[in-house]
Amino acid sequence: MREEYKKLDKAEMGIWECCELHNEVVDDSDPDLDEPQIQHLLQSAEAIRKDYPEEDWLHLTALIHDLGKILVLPKFGGLPQWAVVGDTFPVGCAFDDSNVHHKYFKENPDFNNPNYNTKNGVYSEGCGLDNVLMSWGHDDYMYMVAKENGTTLPSAGSFIIRYHSFYPLHKHGAYTQLMNEEDKENMKWLKIFNKYDLYSKSKVLVDVEEVKPYYESLIAKYFPAKLNW
Ligand SMILES: [Fe+2]
Ligand SMILES: [Fe+2]
Repeated sequence: MREEYKKLDKAEMGIWECCELHNEVVDDSDPDLDEPQIQHLLQSAEAIRKDYPEEDWLHLTALIHDLGKILVLPKFGGLPQWAVVGDTFPVGCAFDDSNVHHKYFKENPDFNNPNYNTKNGVYSEGCGLDNVLMSWGHDDYMYMVAKENGTTLPSAGSFIIRYHSFYPLHKHGAYTQLMNEEDKENMKWLKIFNKYDLYSKSKVLVDVEEVKPYYESLIAKYFPAKLNW
């Protein structure tokens, strides 16, 4: 799967263009289907912007964190929901009990593979999450797209994009032995971001045209005009 998506040969488009395309995505795990998806992105981003006005990279990170959900669209492979949304977790080491639906991991052949079922598995203590293979989903896809297209977002931005669905880590404190010092620093920002992700949905709609120039300026600062997806 990763090899296939690493080719980044599905489309060529800018970040804002993708925000608009993202409106076509229906996420079954999202309780709030009445509003277009771009409202979730902009509501998160605007809420963070209000509280952290200096951290422009964080505003942009909030805007783009869920763009990877375009994987459900036919042009991007039309992946099933389970392969795109939901919690993520490392593979190659034991599945922590805090993983949602943990009991079903017993059906996974890795569960009984002695190379993969110890606490650190194929990894070493403090190796850094960058070196850990995560389960596939919209997080890892968007992280890959940002990185391969040479984003200049600070590492905390990439960290938020890659691990925002990694609930065993940021909610339950599992797998922390794999983190390095930089991860621990970045974790502070992920925790801040999370407060704005799920709970930012409000009845007040953001005026898209009004805020668009601001986000366009951030996109120009941190991304090329066109990206390969
Ligand atoms: Fe997400
Ligand atoms: Fe989100």
